[in-house]
Amino acid sequence: MPEGPLRNAINAVRLVSGETSPMASYALFMGRRLVELHRVLKPTGSIYLHCDPTANWLLRMLMNVVIGERYFKNEIIWHFPDNFQGNVKRFAANHNTILFYARPGFTFHKIMEPLDKPKRRGGRVWSKELGKVVAEKGSDGKPVYREYTEKKADNVWTIGQSSVTNPQSSERVGYPTQKPLALLERIINASSNPGDFVLDPFCGCGTAADAAAKLGRQYLGIDVSAIAVRVMEQRLASRGGAATPVVYRMGWEDYEWDTFEQRALQPAADAEDGLPGWAWAEDKVAGLLNAVPNSKKIGDGGVDARYFTEADEVIPIQVKMHQGQIGRPDMQRLIGVQTEWQRQKINAPMSLMVTLYPPRESLRVYAAQQGRVVLRGDDYPRMQVLSVQEMLTKQERPKLPPVDPRYFVGDTQTRFAIS
Ligand SMILES: C[S@@+](CC[C@H](N)C(=O)[O-])C[C@H]1O[C@@H](n2cnc3c(N)ncnc32)[C@H](O)[C@@H]1O
Repeated sequence: MPEGPLRNAINAVRLVSGETSPMASYALFMGRRLVELHRVLKPTGSIYLHCDPTANWLLRMLMNVVIGERYFKNEIIWHFPDNFQGNVKRFAANHNTILFYARPGFTFHKIMEPLDKPKRRGGRVWSKELGKVVAEKGSDGKPVYREYTEKKADNVWTIGQSSVTNPQSSERVGYPTQKPLALLERIINASSNPGDFVLDPFCGCGTAADAAAKLGRQYLGIDVSAIAVRVMEQRLASRGGAATPVVYRMGWEDYEWDTFEQRALQPAADAEDGLPGWAWAEDKVAGLLNAVPNSKKIGDGGVDARYFTEADEVIPIQVKMHQGQIGRPDMQRLIGVQTEWQRQKINAPMSLMVTLYPPRESLRVYAAQQGRVVLRGDDYPRMQVLSVQEMLTKQERPKLPPVDPRYFVGDTQTRFAIS
């Protein structure tokens, strides 16, 4: 557990959200990472932290504690008015927050935005004697009027998401949390110079790295998901081999059951990376199955990962990494997700439940009772339940249709390539 004010902040989250709540684990997880990011931040550097509305309240507190309240620069509202919203009984949620903090000697370049239509107004100049901006005057002492076609960007950034959500967009790579290139370009342009270094420690499909490459910055992207690394590798290669990623991939054969079990049951406080065992194991299982983990960990009907097939089917995966047995309600919830997805026209023909220990026989029977499904001439169980213990000790695997090649991480266990 970290010491001092960070410890107090994490304890505050534990107090309000519950000792074992996802928010408390997240606070510890992020707190530790922010400490390391601050450690490697250059004296001219800035840190931009993207938050979705579920956790921005606690991230602001952690940033104040780790980076320092006095280094806070802006709370940027990233507004995406082109987001499709269902018929929700509240205001449409069309923004995320980006917290901007910086070291005292930070680099900053103003960003100009075009105005909808040119605007004529009095010119303004900096007065050295008065130490402030004053009205610009001509040699005749009269105010000078100018026509402006652009303005300095403020802390509300309107950058639509269609470039990453529209299937027709050339920018879209299909990674579920992809961010628009324009967003990352703006950040990099504002806070760095060509040749500077950009680090994105949760880089997903590598938008920050792609923007950095485009703008002539050096970059390093890190992601725990092998799928993300794979997508990023292809993406950067398509930019003309801008970089060769260093990839480290673990396969099922890299894990021993005993050590997996031990780590999966480890409380966050004892874990080196601050992750509670269940969260660590969930992420590993998703990666090992070539599935995409649900990075939010909250909501989403309890779905922990999605497996995308070569034919655009989506298989919901629930991963239950705790000591106790799962029950029939857990299985029913998963069927409920599948039904709900199908109602939303998502092609979800089957589902998978992964437990830590072998499930009770009655649950296997229940899964088998859900019937079979034939996909492209192959027969699959509509619902499967399988444990990590069986996968690691008996080499059992779920029967899944071939994965979408974009998410296939390959058979290579370890691949080091440094350009
Ligand atoms: C919101 S996404 C980032 C999206 C990215 N900006 C993009 O444009 O694709 C968060 C990413 O963090 C990764 N992640 C989750 N836990 C991680 C960890 N412990 N270390 C590194 N990456 C992690 C997830 O795999 C996911 O790709």
